[in-house]
Amino acid sequence: ELDRNQGVLWVSSADGRIKGYDWSVNDDASFQSFLSSHGWTDGTSTSKGTQVQVVESNDARNEFFFPGFIDTHIHAPQFPNIGLFGSSGLLDWLNEYTYPTEASFGSKSDPNNQQTDPKDTPPEGLRVYDEVVARTLAHGTTCASYFATIHVPATNALAALCHSHGQRAFIGRVCMDNKDECPSYYVDQSAEQGLNATKSTIEYIQTLDPNGTLINPIITPRFAPSCSNASLDGLGKLAASYNPPLHIQTHIAETLDEIALVQQLFPESSSYADVYDKAHLLTSRTILAHGVHLTKDERTLIRQRDSKISHCPASNSALGSGLAPVRILLNEGLTVGLGTDVSGGYSPSILEAARQACLVSRLLQYSSEYQTMTGNVSTNGTEKLSVDESLYLATRGGAAVVDMADDIGGFDKGMIWDAQLIELGSVPNNTVSPLDGSSVEARAVTVKRVDASGPVGNVDLFGDETWQEQIQKWMWSGDDRNVKNVWVQGKLVHTRD
Ligand code: GUN
Ligand code: FE
Repeated sequence: ELDRNQGVLWVSSADGRIKGYDWSVNDDASFQSFLSSHGWTDGTSTSKGTQVQVVESNDARNEFFFPGFIDTHIHAPQFPNIGLFGSSGLLDWLNEYTYPTEASFGSKSDPNNQQTDPKDTPPEGLRVYDEVVARTLAHGTTCASYFATIHVPATNALAALCHSHGQRAFIGRVCMDNKDECPSYYVDQSAEQGLNATKSTIEYIQTLDPNGTLINPIITPRFAPSCSNASLDGLGKLAASYNPPLHIQTHIAETLDEIALVQQLFPESSSYADVYDKAHLLTSRTILAHGVHLTKDERTLIRQRDSKISHCPASNSALGSGLAPVRILLNEGLTVGLGTDVSGGYSPSILEAARQACLVSRLLQYSSEYQTMTGNVSTNGTEKLSVDESLYLATRGGAAVVDMADDIGGFDKGMIWDAQLIELGSVPNNTVSPLDGSSVEARAVTVKRVDASGPVGNVDLFGDETWQEQIQKWMWSGDDRNVKNVWVQGKLVHTRD
């Protein structure tokens, strides 16, 4: 039920899809006759018909349903490094923080990365992955596209944990076989070994969820500098060998240093995007993370291939990578969603990514790179994203990025019920003035953040906010304390406690 004051929306328990809605059903009497007209009985009664479980939002508690968030780019093994960057840029940060942490997901008894059983993952690794899935669900992320590590058991373990928690996910074993650019302790032995290891994770994931209802494999060359041409070519062919072709994810044009490195490593390619295109890695199911510094030619190529962009504003700011010109990408017809890019990004929350997307779009006009792109002509602030647009990127945009626009990201009839119930706080309406009876002396005040009347968190409503204002306040100040329940495929997968 969407909101008894608004109407009802019903979801089939068989496939988790939205079967219909009726906005005229807005009081208890019409709800009862609505139920009986469908031959349904309320969940409390088992006497006849189909049992109905009613999930209600409560206006008095400032509750509303919202489509689940889609995180189009997140590195699960980097979760322990959240908040740790030093002052390093991308390439130093990878060597200093990222590769050592990711390497720890390998089995000590398997230096050659031959094992496949998820149980061969080190216990600390399992603990991290379990927490990542639980934590992202708690932030309302119903679908995530994960980079794992190069290790087969740990990649399979991440898939198994997403499956058991009920989170929709794409799981990628990271491919990196360029021995000159990767550390000796964390690198595929050869392109062939990397391809075989990848095939093994694909097989495991497809056995776990044969219809791909919840979890799916995704081909994951880390980024051009970490891969040989043989590996890139092999991965392009591997993705295309499946019907339908597998999804692909990688990084592109995140920082200027990285772009210079790609030019040096791939002199035969005309651009960073061309490196991927030559290997047939730019497809309509390809997610390209960052795309901060793409050239016009690269953007044209990406649009022609219908590849998608994951905008990761928190990460781009935290690592000092740059300001992605999202309005230009959108105007040129590119498909854009949001990514947390944990742990380049410091937060597992897509709501935080939406907020940062708004902020970055407001700062863009001061960037000399952006001014050059626009020919130093004033854009009159048109690059600014509205709250609505940013939340669109977090939901329907992300759904298009993972090639599921017909299924998730909204509440259209026929779509899957991947949803979150949001509850905002309200300021108590005391009849006593806060100044009455108090002395002018300093006093300690107890601030309650959770009580019987509701949450919580940072969003205080004063009662006269319009719908649009409630949503704006939520986007700017909300967090996981506002996420009361989360459903994926019609199933309850998280309850705030
Ligand atoms: N480029 C290659 N690997 C990574 C990574 O782990 N994080 C980010 N943000 N960029 C990358
Ligand atoms: Fe990343």
